[in-house]
Amino acid sequence: MKNIRLAMPSLKDARMRKKKEIPTIYYQMEEKYRKLGVGKTYAVFTYGCQGNEADSEVMAGILEEMGYETAQDPMTADVVILNTCAIRENAEQRIWGVLGQLKGKKRENPDMIIGIAGCMPQEEKTTHKILESYDFIDLVFGTHNKDHLPKLLYQAYMTKAKVVEVLSEEGNILEKAPKKREFHHKAWVNIMYGCDEFCTYCIVPYTRGKERSRKKEDILKEVEELVLKGYQEITLLGQNVNAYGKDLQTGYTFGDLLYDLDRTGIKRIRFTTSHPKDLDEKTIRAMRDCPSVMPHLHLPVQSGDNEILRKMNRKYTVEEYMEKIRLLKESVPGISLTTDIIVGFPNETEEQFQRTLDLVDRVQFEGAFTFIYSKREGTPASLLEDEITEEEKHQRLYRLNEKVNAGYLKGHQRFLGQVVEVLVDGFSKNGDGMMCGYTPHLKLTHFKAQNPDLIGTVVSVKITEAKTWFMIGELCE
Ligand code: 5AD
Ligand code: SF4
Repeated sequence: MKNIRLAMPSLKDARMRKKKEIPTIYYQMEEKYRKLGVGKTYAVFTYGCQGNEADSEVMAGILEEMGYETAQDPMTADVVILNTCAIRENAEQRIWGVLGQLKGKKRENPDMIIGIAGCMPQEEKTTHKILESYDFIDLVFGTHNKDHLPKLLYQAYMTKAKVVEVLSEEGNILEKAPKKREFHHKAWVNIMYGCDEFCTYCIVPYTRGKERSRKKEDILKEVEELVLKGYQEITLLGQNVNAYGKDLQTGYTFGDLLYDLDRTGIKRIRFTTSHPKDLDEKTIRAMRDCPSVMPHLHLPVQSGDNEILRKMNRKYTVEEYMEKIRLLKESVPGISLTTDIIVGFPNETEEQFQRTLDLVDRVQFEGAFTFIYSKREGTPASLLEDEITEEEKHQRLYRLNEKVNAGYLKGHQRFLGQVVEVLVDGFSKNGDGMMCGYTPHLKLTHFKAQNPDLIGTVVSVKITEAKTWFMIGELCE
């Protein structure tokens, strides 16, 4: 297959942080692309973080504006896009596996267009690998140019070539792009893009580029429109939401944004991800003062050892982290706290790992995403020597998870006998006559009901059983 290389990724360029204003562009589809998809189907597969989920909603929105319809069977769609994640090796392995399956499907339907988007193409090695050995992939684009999707698809159809456009320098802030949201009652709302933290293990600052905040007016307008449409809950998204506004240099901070969003009338506000270093008192005050800001915080700690935190370039100490936890618990009584933890950072000692276990005990997390450190090419940590065996890393993960899972259970047990408010998402997956949704503290709750009218409403549920991963209760009349 012929290749059209419009732009190729460069980790070196992606590392640069230039001081320049990021323009906001208001999306408009060119007329010539509008009918391109009529009579055809599409599927977007999403991997990784909520940022990718939100991006996939934009890709689906754009494809529908082009006339494509959702495929019944995603594996046989006319256009299949994989929106990929590069955060850990195992995330990438899964995606190569799906691509293998799609190769077979394309043999049955040679007109199928297969696209790979998101964070993996931003890595030089991935895009080169695709160019060299993945002939059945038609489209390769990254995180900065999803609005070019119509143009890229058009070129792929016209030229029958593999079209590659991966920008390393971030582009504009895209406003008003069409979105096909998964739910009608809860929505992702991006408040910023990119990350400037450069934690030494992490590929995200390279794949997602420089930190750039949306204008507060655009965010408020989006949320006001969601309220008018009947949305109950928003989750504000950014790699480090607590740094919101720093790049705009107006003095307006994330805490200010929470107060303003509370006044829009949206019932529930959540946000992710927070960086402990930038979580400030105003944000904690907003969590205390604003009824719509939910009493749950995901605050990734990564490690309970100061030396490891320093090597990770996290820019806070265990003591500083604990002080913020103290303030949070004092300001928002009953707050539910969750976190991210990495085990097996290069040459982490048993004592250092023990300090992580101690910290989990002291904070009493009610949930955590736990990971074995994964070496990412191009990051500073990838150059560190590492003598911990794989077996040791797995053992540590196992020991940590035992503790974390006990925290999940405790976090559910504390609601036994209480009446909680559940925003109903839908029917439980196992089809046992139950419906489910989340409480303010982000506890997944199942209850007996079969009424589709409840979806998107807040109902009262009395908790009767606490399991590790969810609670069960009875609907109050
Ligand atoms: N290896 C393991 N976990 C990682 N994370 C980020 N990069 C890596 C890596 N190289 C984890 C961090 C982060 C979460 C989103 O993913 O815990 O908070
Ligand atoms: Fe990665 Fe650190 Fe940025 Fe989070 S804050 S995305 S872990 S570099």
